[in-house]
Amino acid sequence: MKTVLTYGTFDLLHYGHINLLKRAKALGDYLIVGCSTDEFNAIKNKHSFYTFENRKRVLEAIKYVDLVIPENDWEQKRKDIQKYGVDVFVMGDDWQNKFDNLSDLCEVVYLTRTPDISTTMVKSYIDRRDAVVNNS
Ligand code: CTP
Repeated sequence: MKTVLTYGTFDLLHYGHINLLKRAKALGDYLIVGCSTDEFNAIKNKHSFYTFENRKRVLEAIKYVDLVIPENDWEQKRKDIQKYGVDVFVMGDDWQNKFDNLSDLCEVVYLTRTPDISTTMVKSYIDRRDAVVNNS
């Protein structure tokens, strides 16, 4: 069995996240998602709308995701790769080359981000009450 691991905040889940998770799962048989805790987000100066527990619950309902674990700090990736016997480490290409140092443990893959969508963008649209949103 080929195990794939990725990390992220996954707040206000959107289709860019789904595209990433679908392609990550296609790289193996079992997909583990490390979901950033609220405390870790605070360190990253991120404040998510949904709590960790609710972001985890949403991720667990996605058919591509087999296991959700908490991401508590920057350092845990090596430990998680070894603990779960990870074969492929995947991140969106906003992190291009940032995790190349993990390639002594497993394959490291960067997937192209889906253009024109992010949680930050969704939040800013919602803030602009006069915005006309075209979802077609
Ligand atoms: N991702 C993606 N395409 C997008 C948005 C995100 O492939 N349009 C990927 C990221 O590259 C990352 C994962 O989804 O591997 C989780 O990203 P996250 O930071 O939680 O999502 P963003 O929408 O980028 O959130 P924010 O705007 O808060 O940075």
